[in-house]
Amino acid sequence: MKILIIGSGGREHAISMALSKNSNNNMIYAIPGNPGMLEYCECVNIDQLQFDEIISFIKKNSIDLVIIGPEVPICEGLTDIIEDIGVKVFAPNKLASVLESSKKFTKEISFENNIPTGQAKWFIDFVAAEDYLQSLEPPYVIKADGLAAGKGVSICENYDDAIEALKDIFNGRFGKNQSVVIEEFLDGEEISYFAVTDGTNMYPLIGAQDHKRLLNGDFGPNTGGMGAYCPPPLLTKNLENKIISQILEPTLNGLKNRGINYKGVLFAGLMIKDNEPKLIEYNIRFGDPETQALLMLLKSDFTELVMSVVNGDLNSYKLEWHDKKALTVVLANEGYPNQYNQNEEITGIDEAEKNPKIKVFHAGTKIGDGKLIATGGRVLNVTSIDHTIENARGNAYEAIKKIHYKGKIYREDIAWRALG
Ligand code: AMP
Ligand code: GLY
Repeated sequence: MKILIIGSGGREHAISMALSKNSNNNMIYAIPGNPGMLEYCECVNIDQLQFDEIISFIKKNSIDLVIIGPEVPICEGLTDIIEDIGVKVFAPNKLASVLESSKKFTKEISFENNIPTGQAKWFIDFVAAEDYLQSLEPPYVIKADGLAAGKGVSICENYDDAIEALKDIFNGRFGKNQSVVIEEFLDGEEISYFAVTDGTNMYPLIGAQDHKRLLNGDFGPNTGGMGAYCPPPLLTKNLENKIISQILEPTLNGLKNRGINYKGVLFAGLMIKDNEPKLIEYNIRFGDPETQALLMLLKSDFTELVMSVVNGDLNSYKLEWHDKKALTVVLANEGYPNQYNQNEEITGIDEAEKNPKIKVFHAGTKIGDGKLIATGGRVLNVTSIDHTIENARGNAYEAIKKIHYKGKIYREDIAWRALG
């Protein structure tokens, strides 16, 4: 089968590994991919938002299946235009993608279907938003309604900061005509939970815990994620059942009632308190870096899972996981999530991967003058699988010592909630 992956991060590198693991018959391409993915794929230098060029490539190379990693091409409607030419796509369509691209929409679906979530109101003008804010207590949670690459959320400890955050959004920092969602602050421990659905059937996958803040101890600015482990001990079978029955199933029913057919990955960002889950937000794709840990644990053939989703066969599907734990540490570039250097040579990946329990996924790298260069904010994801989270963490941090580039930064406490 000829499979095209859209994206260039660690998540897409992990997807390319998983597609190659059990199925030797797959010919895999990536647009644009990254140097790490070259071990599994042919990387094609097309921008992931150049939809005309992507369609030409798909036609010319008789691609059978497209897997879209990141949210932006999905929300821009790439699934729809590929399906229009009769090719299968593992990602939701544009209509369904509002579940990620509009925080207001997710709240509406939640309230309509009695899904546990924080209270929220949304506004299109500053005066009404300010008025509502005055009736609340801190911390205030202020969000731009649309996609903002993780930067559209402000959690403000005082009223003045909340007003600044409101002004920022209404002044167009995240695009024109953004509405604002003001939400109740949810206290507790966060979990990312993943399921797949074929439009009719839902298949729960697994949970992971991400580390969104830049610095040890969950301090510093929010990032795309500095590390993850999977599965978190907090996620008991009992909690998982609640997530499925109180959150995922009612969401998919709610979408169906609105005439929305959801197909692909459903990623719930959840706050857990006293063993009760509340929905923070949905994403319409796999998480990054959660997927790097998650796919290491998958025993079944990933290609079969993807085909069951796109063919609507999930009702007869059975997935197996390794009875192990996986953990990934993000190596970033000094300055991330703001300005950072993009020219430093990376060495030592081969040395790190001499341990068979280690896999290094590329997240922001390029080849320049025959050398591997760190170009991204998040550069590499050092991932390990072992019998315990403690061992996986030990392996990952040993491996990190062998990888060198100027400006290498990382958190030293991934999985602290599980291990202390
Ligand atoms: P989001 O982009 O909506 O995932 O928000 C980014 C991060 O902000 C989340 O992962 C949480 O850590 C935090 N966050 C978002 N909404 C809330 C909320 N209502 N209460 C507490 N924390 C939140
Ligand atoms: N790691 C969180 C995300 O992918 O959105």
